[in-house]
Amino acid sequence: MNQLTKRKQLIKDWIYEAADKSKQSFNQTINIEEKTNRTDLVTNIDKEIEQFFIEKINAHFPDERILGEEGSGHQFTDLKGVVWVIDPIDGTLNFVKQQYDFAIMVSVYKDGVGYLGYIYDVMKNELYFASKNQGAYLNDKPLKKVEDTPLREGLVAISHRLMTSKINDDAREIGRASSGVRMIGSAGLETTRVATGKLVAYIGASLAPWDIGAGKVIAEELGLIYTQLNGEEIDMLKYNKTIVATPSAHKEIRMNYISKTEK
Ligand code: IPD
Ligand code: CA
Ligand code: CA
Repeated sequence: MNQLTKRKQLIKDWIYEAADKSKQSFNQTINIEEKTNRTDLVTNIDKEIEQFFIEKINAHFPDERILGEEGSGHQFTDLKGVVWVIDPIDGTLNFVKQQYDFAIMVSVYKDGVGYLGYIYDVMKNELYFASKNQGAYLNDKPLKKVEDTPLREGLVAISHRLMTSKINDDAREIGRASSGVRMIGSAGLETTRVATGKLVAYIGASLAPWDIGAGKVIAEELGLIYTQLNGEEIDMLKYNKTIVATPSAHKEIRMNYISKTEK
């Protein structure tokens, strides 16, 4: 087995093991804390899963750095070398309130370029995976390139924060121009919906590198465009207003629906 095949197998095994930990927690009392506000939560399970990945990565790839949401990885001022990007539970609010629609996300970047991306929809047992220039898969079945459907013919996901904004109507205008708005509450799962052609766009209000890393590798492999809302490249060292969309929907949203202040 070559090194890359071995790495991919390890990552898959770890994701399935982490998913079991998340599901076992349904039978336990979990510890829930507010991070910045009542809708931004973290649980002991988020922290334990991140720690689990850190131990595994350190044991197998001791020279590689880890960028994890819960802060137990390394501190970053650049993306040189190999960087693992970990979101132990994406959709923690769903995990706590629904025990559904949450994902485990892992990606591996090299000198700032994503080359492996994994999003695991735990409750549906759906593992989305892509390797740069080698295609994207759902549970080992190749995914087809996404059709370039325009905004008016497709559904969109738009973050709760943008849809409920009192100061900016852009999100609602995009919704009106589309066939309809659907919200899940997991940036990763919303990106998989775009990647499988179920949505034509997903717009995130303020996504961190760990919300973006895996989805970007998968989306780009399928012909989608994943950028900041103003069209600039994603900055993997900060929070980004984001859009992942078909080329047509990406262009239309950027040209017609983003206020001048966003451009
Ligand atoms: C959040 C989810 C949510 C998105 C937030 C993210 P978390 O991730 O992906 O859908 O709107 O911006 O922070 O905190 O549940 O990992
Ligand atoms: Ca998370
Ligand atoms: Ca997240």
